[in-house]
Amino acid sequence: MRPVAFVTGASRGIGAAIAKALAADHDLALTSTARGGAKATAKVCRQLGAEVLELQHDAASRKDADRIVKAVDQAFGRVDVLVNNAGIVVRKPTVKMSDDDFDRVVAVNLSGPFYLVRRLLPGMIARGQGRVINVSSISATLGSAGATGYCASKWGLDGLTRALAEELRGTGVLALSVLPGSVATDMLEGSGFQPRMTADEVAGVVRYLATQAPAAMQGSRVEVFG
Ligand SMILES: NC(=O)c1ccc[n+]([C@@H]2O[C@H](COP(=O)([O-])OP(=O)(O)OC[C@H]3O[C@@H](n4cnc5c(N)ncnc54)[C@H](OP(=O)(O)O)[C@@H]3O)[C@@H](O)[C@H]2O)c1
Repeated sequence: MRPVAFVTGASRGIGAAIAKALAADHDLALTSTARGGAKATAKVCRQLGAEVLELQHDAASRKDADRIVKAVDQAFGRVDVLVNNAGIVVRKPTVKMSDDDFDRVVAVNLSGPFYLVRRLLPGMIARGQGRVINVSSISATLGSAGATGYCASKWGLDGLTRALAEELRGTGVLALSVLPGSVATDMLEGSGFQPRMTADEVAGVVRYLATQAPAAMQGSRVEVFG
């Protein structure tokens, strides 16, 4: 049986690259905010041999988390690899950022991953295997001006990963995070940062974590910052 990977934010950028990097030997559940948004990614993944379920999803919504987890369970009956990749940034100086801006970034980037982890972990633990890979950011190791919500959400996501890893010791389930630097995607536009790597390079690291990383890497934060 092929393992099943669940990748959020797979319509474009890093998430699309991760889906394609896993498609040759995984079946896939792919999300995006728009119905049909991950269609192009799904087409390529099917050509690479994957069975693909496309899902519309707002990462900030608990109801959407319930709905998509149920749909994936009905389609595949299991999730072996959860990649929490969906993310947003609001770039404004803190004094110009509204409470709603801050709450939205934290809801998508931090609460969203928790909602899926909480719902998918029981199955992984029961099967004695699974991997949760959270796409964090090098911004979880430093501060970026004009990105307080984003930095807070990614530092928080790494805290979630680390605490989860401690809970999961001995279960066969790994919690890991990837911390890319500046990647050539839509998100980087307008940031003032020059791209330092491609989405495919980040996806290669995620593929390693999904398929080869040893249990000794439990809780690792893998910086991709060359
Ligand atoms: N680009 C970088 O330099 C960089 C660096 C470090 C970390 N990262 C992280 O890498 C991840 C992917 O970023 P990217 O650069 O590939 O960004 P991107 O090109 O802007 O793509 C973002 C993806 O997330 C999805 N998404 C956005 N809001 C969502 C929501 N509310 N619910 C569900 N999905 C949502 C988007 O779906 P739609 O197409 O439907 O909007 C899209 O698939 C993010 O977590 C980001 O923080 C990026």
